[in-house]
Amino acid sequence: MRIRPAEEKDLEAITAIYNQGVEERWNAQMNPVSMKERAKWMKKEHPADKFPIFVAESDGSVIGWASINQYHSNKKGFRSTGEVSYYVHKDVRRRGVGEALLRYLLECAPSYGFHHVIAVLLSHNLASVGMLEKCGFKHWGTMPDVVDMSGYICSHLYYGIEVPLKRQSVSYSEQNALKLAHAYWKEHIRPGDVCVDATAGRGKDTALLCELAGPAGQIYAFDVQPEAVKSTQALLEREGYADQAQVILDSHENMTQYVGSAKCVIFNFGYLPGGNHAVFTKKESSIAAIEAALSIITEDGFVSLCIYYGGDSGFEEKDALMEYLRGVDSKRYTVMVQDFFNRPNCPPIFVLIEKNKG
Ligand SMILES: C[S@@+](CC[C@H](N)C(=O)[O-])C[C@H]1O[C@@H](n2cnc3c(N)ncnc32)[C@H](O)[C@@H]1O
Repeated sequence: MRIRPAEEKDLEAITAIYNQGVEERWNAQMNPVSMKERAKWMKKEHPADKFPIFVAESDGSVIGWASINQYHSNKKGFRSTGEVSYYVHKDVRRRGVGEALLRYLLECAPSYGFHHVIAVLLSHNLASVGMLEKCGFKHWGTMPDVVDMSGYICSHLYYGIEVPLKRQSVSYSEQNALKLAHAYWKEHIRPGDVCVDATAGRGKDTALLCELAGPAGQIYAFDVQPEAVKSTQALLEREGYADQAQVILDSHENMTQYVGSAKCVIFNFGYLPGGNHAVFTKKESSIAAIEAALSIITEDGFVSLCIYYGGDSGFEEKDALMEYLRGVDSKRYTVMVQDFFNRPNCPPIFVLIEKNKG
């Protein structure tokens, strides 16, 4: 079984599984919903970047789904309280599908800004109560006998859990370019994202992208050195990420031949750590690769650059990159440069390029 973000093609299965729940009276809806209604619900109430729906898939079939959205979405005060819903196909219940979906949602809830997660359910749904308690939810309240389904009366139960937000306050004196980059990725990369590591090297960043995008994500990594490709593949194998990532022996300027669209493209310029210092990223291909990256990032996407300079690789690439970055179209992109200005020995520079909203 794998869990991945829902797509339009899943609507039929999502609707059918939901209607099983309606028929079996697991919610108070009472009448089945149409696919048209679910399509509207998916589009309006569950934009993928804000309130996602995830599906559990086995052998190519959707066997369950779960969603999270803001509790009382029209009231700002509830903006960090998410409400979960989950439905499992009747043929595969009691096999851990619901629990896997719920745990997955809890894992990613903080990255959508939710600090509390609640589940609201009918009092006869004892299997769900058991699962919620197993996942750490507590009973927060009951609205007694408020549900009347053609004479069948039951209560509405509120279960909830507090989830720690991953936000950390930044103290710049303890930072460096790579730490700033990692903090940004952690805040913005979400389960299921497609990400590109344009400079695989020893694969540490590729592995981090795999961790952040989760098993539903897809990672592409590029390097021109067979030694780097081998190192990266070995690290991914050791860390259990081999299935999630494709490591490609090619220059990053060719990334559009392999990747159609990505949430982010990350670059860590310079030479292979512990490798040949004579092989390092070069201004022409680096700029061509940034252009390629900008052409494939999604609307909420970003390009992250750690620029190393001085030492063996000199200043040529850094100077050319800075000149290029100053000229990036400000109507379409925002370029943020973070430089540890008074530190000695040319500390790396962190640059972040975001697509402008709207
Ligand atoms: C600083 S290292 C990357 C370190 C890596 N992020 C890690 O976690 O180990 C830079 C890498 O860029 C690679 N490189 C140089 N030119 C390249 C190109 N045109 N396309 C892709 N990779 C390139 C080098 O071979 C080197 O392995």
